[in-house]
Amino acid sequence: MTDLFSPLSIRDTEVPNRIAVSPMCQYSCATDGLPTEWHRVHLGSRAVGGAGIVLTEATAVEPRGRITPHDLGIWSDEHARALEPITEFVREQGSVPGIQLAHAGHKASKSRPWEGNEPLVSGGIGGEDDDGDDSAHEDQNEGANGWEVLSPSPDAYPFGGEPSIRKMDHEDVETVIEAFRAAARRSLEAGFVVAEIHAAHGYLLHEFLSPVTNRRDDEYGGSFENRTRLLREVTRAVREVWPDEQPVFVRISGTDWLEGLESVADTWTLESSVRLANQLSELGVDLLDVSSGGLHPEQDPPTGPNSQVPLAETIRAESACVSESGSENESEFEKGLAVGAVGGITEPEQADALIRNERADLVLVGREFLRDPYFGLRAADELEVEGESGETKWPIQYRRAVR
Ligand code: FNR
Repeated sequence: MTDLFSPLSIRDTEVPNRIAVSPMCQYSCATDGLPTEWHRVHLGSRAVGGAGIVLTEATAVEPRGRITPHDLGIWSDEHARALEPITEFVREQGSVPGIQLAHAGHKASKSRPWEGNEPLVSGGIGGEDDDGDDSAHEDQNEGANGWEVLSPSPDAYPFGGEPSIRKMDHEDVETVIEAFRAAARRSLEAGFVVAEIHAAHGYLLHEFLSPVTNRRDDEYGGSFENRTRLLREVTRAVREVWPDEQPVFVRISGTDWLEGLESVADTWTLESSVRLANQLSELGVDLLDVSSGGLHPEQDPPTGPNSQVPLAETIRAESACVSESGSENESEFEKGLAVGAVGGITEPEQADALIRNERADLVLVGREFLRDPYFGLRAADELEVEGESGETKWPIQYRRAVR
């Protein structure tokens, strides 16, 4: 029987259990995108705490793709080198390190949540004083005063008051695709095993997917095929540099939660997601991490335990997902797409039931991992799961004390 502590085998990667730390921004870099001791301890503790996969926060593929000046980044080799000790530590704990590759698009250049999440006044990044020489690189490492943000269709976006906005032309599209490709290559050098492309929550790739924010009339806007084109091209670029043995995940918003709203004629729905899932599966994506919303202030999402699970469950049932549960040596998902569920998952028994009842293949846990970095160990205790030789799963350093 497949349950929370059965390994998840994808390609040649074996994840020891079905629990992942959901990506969570820490806004704890200086203004250079480099990880700090905070990231090492924060991610490292969750690996010690029994997570099967530890995903980083949204990590910007280029400086303009940061939500705030304090976001983590992977736009230079220096970033890769700085992340390496973190992936090494996570692996030493038996956990799988993953990175969420992100571009904030129109939602970039904000102050931190605890500083009001306010638009920052536009500065020099990508703007007129970015003259392409080394001093521009210096500028990109700062950005404390804000920068020009990228958007598929500036006039369509539901929020007002942003700093200067750039409607992406073909060159910008190419730049973004190449930034994802280079970021993936560096992530590999840094020792990450899973690459997750962030295409959810109203950030750049989701802004292209949804007709609410994409009003373009070129080959990147209009029809479903056109709106999904950028994500497909980014996915292709990442998959090209990511080894065949290792998994690629994509996080999507399963729906915009805007259906029926009078002010919005057309929107991204669960039906769109099922269709997208099939396309991504064909491009070599291994797992769809199904979140939702984040695009529009008038969204009306349900809340509470398992609130987004039905989205994951439907995509799992209706897309090309082929799960061959129980096969021990082969990847379970060689022929299809696995699905991750996230949102309001806080209890071990609840998480176990999601896997046992085949509603999802992986559970991603966010806030509960902030409350309890050892959620994975607590789950093993509560579900009475033992280590290989019959002892508790707690790390050897703690074992005698916690028994
Ligand atoms: C988040 N979330 C999030 N999602 C994402 O895809 N990339 C990110 O960087 C972040 N950042 C982030 C920061 C913080 C502090 C929180 C609480 C959340 C969303 C998160 O991954 C998750 O989907 C939601 O929190 C819902 O799951 P839980 O918290 O109910 O388990």
